[in-house]
Amino acid sequence: MNPYQNLDEHPQGNLPSSDPNLSPEQDFVEIDHHLSPKLSKQTSHEPIEFKKRFSFIHDADNITKMEHMELYWEDLTIKAVGKVKKNIGGKTMRVIEEKVILNSLKGVVSPSTFTAILGPSGSGKTTLLNFLSGRIVSSNLVMNGTLKMNNVPIDSIEKYSNKIAFVQQDDILMAVFTPREALIFSANIRLNLSQEKKEEKVNKLLRDLGLEKCADTIIGNELIRGVSGGERKRTSIGVELLTNPSMIFLDEPTTGLDSNTAVTIMYLLRDMANSGRTIVSVIHQPSTEIFREFDKLILICKGNIIYQGDAQAAVDYFTSINYECPSMTNPSDFYMKIMNPEGLMIEMMEKGMNVNKENKKELSEKFEERVSYFTKKYKESKNYEELCSKETIPVKIEKYANTVSWIKQFVLLFKREFIKVFKNPFDLRVRLSQYIIFSCVCIIVYHDV
Ligand SMILES: Nc1ncnc2c1ncn2[C@@H]1O[C@H](COP(=O)(O)OP(=O)(O)O)[C@@H](O)[C@H]1O
Ligand SMILES: [Mg+2]
Repeated sequence: MNPYQNLDEHPQGNLPSSDPNLSPEQDFVEIDHHLSPKLSKQTSHEPIEFKKRFSFIHDADNITKMEHMELYWEDLTIKAVGKVKKNIGGKTMRVIEEKVILNSLKGVVSPSTFTAILGPSGSGKTTLLNFLSGRIVSSNLVMNGTLKMNNVPIDSIEKYSNKIAFVQQDDILMAVFTPREALIFSANIRLNLSQEKKEEKVNKLLRDLGLEKCADTIIGNELIRGVSGGERKRTSIGVELLTNPSMIFLDEPTTGLDSNTAVTIMYLLRDMANSGRTIVSVIHQPSTEIFREFDKLILICKGNIIYQGDAQAAVDYFTSINYECPSMTNPSDFYMKIMNPEGLMIEMMEKGMNVNKENKKELSEKFEERVSYFTKKYKESKNYEELCSKETIPVKIEKYANTVSWIKQFVLLFKREFIKVFKNPFDLRVRLSQYIIFSCVCIIVYHDV
């Protein structure tokens, strides 16, 4: 039976087993400690029993080809440079302005570890994730810093791109494809294997991710009805898993999903970390259940890291700096509250202060002071000290090698565009009407010229 079958009817923890040979009693298995030697040491919470349900992840062939990757960054500063309109001496002028997005950050993400990044909107989470995964594309961003892969300084992460996967916040799947077609397309364009082997991999993934039931339903989008949000997200993750990455970055994989579906996505990430992979994910408003699955936590506020370390030890850390998480409160809600100006405003109102236009400036200054305090305290903390004196074992990693020729990739992409147009008759009709109307306008305007 499939772990995701009738997902919505199954409360988490009650999901049926993925392995048809397992009895319900064998359904839950302990974390595979030999695959994840660090995990037992790293998690400070009681080891939770997980279902080892994702056979693709633990596939012997995939495990042997997987490499342990530890990524370390230091003095990472990212600034956005742009022209802004300013009123200078009564005149509106366009001046070049620099905006610091990430402010001299130091950090590490390790194998066999699930690192969660939390922070308010606009704090720089996606920018950090994009940088670490080698996906910064904006030309107006100026970057400085040092990167080390397994303790070896590297000038660019791009050469490791065959070992790194990135699951974007917005799914970039083709709406007219089915999950099976999306996976087969990805396998064709990225894997240099026989068709039979590729199909075998795809079928295994579909089974593992609980997508068998909807494998031949179109993915859809806002306009075309298709699979559910959770199934779409699992397809996006599956597309990335095909290449057997050692390091996976995800930007808000649970946003917009119901709590049960979000938890099952977490189990998948947890299982990937257990298998030795480095998992880094930005998570939006995690529930207590989801928070329990994190090994490490990075809190980012206004481009500064204000906490980095064991996720379950963060509550004690904040208590030690006089920010105590109230009992019966989800720690992540507490962190979000203290990292947001709105949270401070609520605190001030609770103390009987009137927040109005006049003291809004005062509120913003107070919030700046709070962020500076958190940043200073974090830089004085034991966690930061440990990070500065971090010694890692050098491990050789194979360099990037593209396995499918560019001609084949070109043909496949061309074919995909063709399918996209013909599988979406509405889009085709709209486009055709556009071209006809545009041609008519051109004829009317220019016919006598
Ligand atoms: N290329 C860019 N040019 C200018 N500003 C940018 C650029 N990329 C990001 N920013 C700004 O940097 C801040 C952090 O963005 P982002 O990393 O997307 O935040 P988050 O993911 O935490 O919501 C935002 O204020 C955003 O507007
Ligand atoms: Mg973001």
